[in-house]
Amino acid sequence: MEISAVNALLCPHCGSEFSTPDTNATSLACTSGHSFDIARQGYLNLLTGHGTKFVPDTAAMVSARDSFLDAGHYAPLAQALAETVKELVPGAGMIVDAGTGTGYYLQQVLAGYAENQESGLARSVTAVGMDISKFALRRASRRNPAALNIVWDLWRELPLGASTADVVLVVFAPRNASEFARILKPGGTLIVVTPLASHLAEIAQEAGLLGIQEDKEAALNHSLEEHFTPSGSRELLVPLHLGPADIDNVALMGPAGHHLDTVELGERLAHLPEETLATAAFRISTFTARHP
Ligand SMILES: C[S@@+](CC[C@H](N)C(=O)[O-])C[C@H]1O[C@@H](n2cnc3c(N)ncnc32)[C@H](O)[C@@H]1O
Ligand SMILES: [Zn+2]
Repeated sequence: MEISAVNALLCPHCGSEFSTPDTNATSLACTSGHSFDIARQGYLNLLTGHGTKFVPDTAAMVSARDSFLDAGHYAPLAQALAETVKELVPGAGMIVDAGTGTGYYLQQVLAGYAENQESGLARSVTAVGMDISKFALRRASRRNPAALNIVWDLWRELPLGASTADVVLVVFAPRNASEFARILKPGGTLIVVTPLASHLAEIAQEAGLLGIQEDKEAALNHSLEEHFTPSGSRELLVPLHLGPADIDNVALMGPAGHHLDTVELGERLAHLPEETLATAAFRISTFTARHP
């Protein structure tokens, strides 16, 4: 487990800090003695006791998202995020990826700092990935061994100190406005990626994406306005060439993946052409944290 971000970590039971663990430690203890497991794969499980009511993505859903992202379909989004983060945090700083999933976007963001490290500015950024799904974090830990990956529920108080983060990144994941504002440094930035109404419209029916609510810009701004001031917004349209396997992955990786009958889906997708053209349509919005 990577330890530099441990300095920002607070015990979810008592709010104490953690002592720096040994490199191969299998648990991490706060200074009051509460101990949490570090999984073999390297992520830290802070979510103990009663589980949350949320149903995490299944292993099959996580695997579908990983395959789809690995195929590079959303690489332009990853690139745009890497550039945005690098502009906001050119040197040292802490980046939190809330709902990191399989860690794909955080990996691209951190790759943007490879030069800094090569040129001797090692440890230029500290990264934290949080997700409620262990299946996702297993993959995220593999992708981003330099990040502190934590199993956590974003709707709870976050286990990070106040004013510790320079950027919070949220790609298609829950937004806990008050907690994001608390952990961000004054003037720190929240980056939110949401789908536009036209996102994958061409395959919405085949992939069972119908009924997904678009996050309207005004509604997004409104939901954050108590703690954040909008500082920028852009739309990103990405043309996609999708084979049947890609559409299968899109169907499985979305919220519908919880309910899909894979046999039925296979039959539905069997008639698809070798290549379907579709457009991924994203909004990238940035917000500045306002502190009282
Ligand atoms: C659509 S996925 C996006 C993942 C990643 N950001 C990406 O774009 O590849 C949503 C992620 O949010 C996570 N998630 C949903 N509710 C959560 C919660 N309450 N706390 C933490 N993570 C949550 C899910 O486990 C899932 O990995
Ligand atoms: Zn404690």
